[in-house]
Amino acid sequence: MRTIRFMLVAALAASTVTTVACGGGKKATTAPAAEKSLYDRLGGKDAITAVVGLFLGNVVADTRINARFANADAKGLQTKLVDQICMATGGPCKYEGKDMKTAHTGMKISEEEFGAMVEDLVKALETAKVGEKEKTELLGALGGMKGDIVGQ
Ligand code: HEM
Repeated sequence: MRTIRFMLVAALAASTVTTVACGGGKKATTAPAAEKSLYDRLGGKDAITAVVGLFLGNVVADTRINARFANADAKGLQTKLVDQICMATGGPCKYEGKDMKTAHTGMKISEEEFGAMVEDLVKALETAKVGEKEKTELLGALGGMKGDIVGQ
């Protein structure tokens, strides 16, 4: 009887240890879910294409900067912007256009014009109901290009 009670206690203890060990093991192997890329959180290429469409619509209607685009290849620019944003946010695209300095050299784009364009993008992101976090991250990524675009 004593032996049986001892075996029961031992079995119980062993199962507790196993449970704890398994629980501990599980915790150790379950890394916190990696945050999705900004590309995924924006909704992928279709969502980015929709935002760029809204954005270029705003630019064309914006009398502060639309004259700049009078001779632009609108379709080509749209494709390049989609690829650029897709790539910059961690998506599977490859931007094949010019680097920002080369693309804007000779244009002497002012701070005000850059600001106007950012406003047009913000409006597009708001129309598309892009979340606050994603909006801030995307604007941060594009803001980093400012030095290569303004005053060149
Ligand atoms: C973060 C801001 C900006 C980004 C990401 C951007 C991006 C681009 C890209 C990807 C191109 C195409 C380059 C190529 O042809 O290979 C381009 C061209 C151009 N950008 Fe920008 N740009 C920005 C700001 C501006 C601003 C503020 C202006 C003027 C107000 C401007 C005016 C132009 C013009 C006129 C072209 C040439 C379009 C054409 O001839 O087809 N950009 N930009």
